[in-house]
Amino acid sequence: MFVLFLKATVTRILNMLLILVIVASCNIVSGTTIKPIVMWHGMGDSCCNPISLGRIKLIIEDTFPGVYVKSIKIGANIIEDTENGFFLNANVQVEEVCSQLANDSKLADGYNAIGFSQGAQFLRAVAQRCPSPPMINLVSLGGQHQGVYGLPNCGYPAHKWCDYIRKILNVGAYWSWVQRELVQAEYWHDPLNEEEYRQRSIFLADINNERQLNETYRTNLLKLKNLILVRFNNDTIVEPRETEWFGFYRPGQAKEVYSLRESPLYIEDRIGLKQMDKEGRLKLIAIDGNHLQFSEEWFVSTILHGFLE
Ligand SMILES: *[C@@H]1O[C@H](CO)[C@@H](O)[C@H](O)[C@H]1NC(C)=O
Ligand SMILES: *[C@@H]1O[C@H](CO)[C@@H](O)[C@H](O)[C@H]1NC(C)=O
Ligand SMILES: *[C@@H]1O[C@H](CO)[C@@H](O)[C@H](O)[C@H]1NC(C)=O
Repeated sequence: MFVLFLKATVTRILNMLLILVIVASCNIVSGTTIKPIVMWHGMGDSCCNPISLGRIKLIIEDTFPGVYVKSIKIGANIIEDTENGFFLNANVQVEEVCSQLANDSKLADGYNAIGFSQGAQFLRAVAQRCPSPPMINLVSLGGQHQGVYGLPNCGYPAHKWCDYIRKILNVGAYWSWVQRELVQAEYWHDPLNEEEYRQRSIFLADINNERQLNETYRTNLLKLKNLILVRFNNDTIVEPRETEWFGFYRPGQAKEVYSLRESPLYIEDRIGLKQMDKEGRLKLIAIDGNHLQFSEEWFVSTILHGFLE
C-alpha cells in the first residue's frame, strides 16, 4: 500500500518534472522562433548602409538570436537601390517588393515589418495590396501617411539630389511625368489644392482611398495585429510632422493641422484606422528628436520587445 502510494507520488513528481522541462524547452524554442522582420529604408538611404539599416539589422539580430531579417533592396546593388528611392515609381516598387516577399519561403508564415520614413508608407501599401505572405505588425518610423507639403531638409542621410527634387516638386508635383518618375511627388499632398491631389496623386491618394474606395485596402490593413506609428516630435525634415500620425494641414492653407482623429480618413474610416483604434490596435508613439533619431535602447525596448516578440 505504502509502496504503491510512494510509486504514485514518484510518478506524479516525475510527470511534473517532465512538464516543467517541456515548458522550459518551449520557452527556449519560442525565443528563437521569432517571426522574420522585413525592413524598408527611407529616401537617400539603402538596404545595407552600415550607419543606418545595416546597423539596425545587427541590433535586431543581437536582440533576437536566430531571427531572419530581410532589408529590402530594389535593384542590382546599393547605388541602384538608393536611386530607385528617388526615381522608381512607388507603385512599381511596391509591386516588386510584393513579389520579393511572396518569393521568400522564410516569410511564408508571416512577418513583422518596419518601415523607415517613406519606406513606412510603402510597406503600408504592401499590407493593403499584398496580403500574402501575411504582415503581422507594421511599425512606421516617421512615415508620411498623409504625404508631405515641403521638403525643408534633405533626408537622412542627406543626398545630393534633394535640392533638385525640391525645385521640381515646388513647380510641378502633379505633372504627369513628375508623378510617374519622381517618388516624392507621389506622396506630395498640396493642401491648397486637395482636388488636384486626389485626382492626380498616383500613389498616396490611391492607398488612402481618396480617389475611390477600395474595400480590399481596408480589409487587408485590418488584418494587421497592430499598426504602430512613431512620430518624431522635433522632426525638421517631414512637413508637417503630424503626417507621421495621419494628421495633416487643414484644406486651403499650410499652417493649421488636424490630428489623426479629426481627419476625414479616420472619421469616414476609409482604410480601417478608426476600427483599429477602437480595438486598441493602433499604437501612437511620440518621441523627442529629429527625423529617425532614436537610441538603440529605445528601439530595443519600445519597438522590438514592445511589439515584435
Ligand atoms: C524568385 O525566385 C526565383 C528563384 O529563386 C528567382 O529566379 C526570381 O528572380 C525571384 N523573383 C523575385 C521577384 O525576386
Ligand atoms: C483594389 O485593390 C486590390 C489590391 O491591390 C486590387 O487587386 C483591385 O484591383 C483594386 N480594385 C479597384 C477597383 O481598384
Ligand atoms: C521636442 O518636441 C517636444 C514636444 O513638442 C518638446 O517638448 C521639446 O522641448 C522639443 N525638444 C527640442 C530639443 O526642441
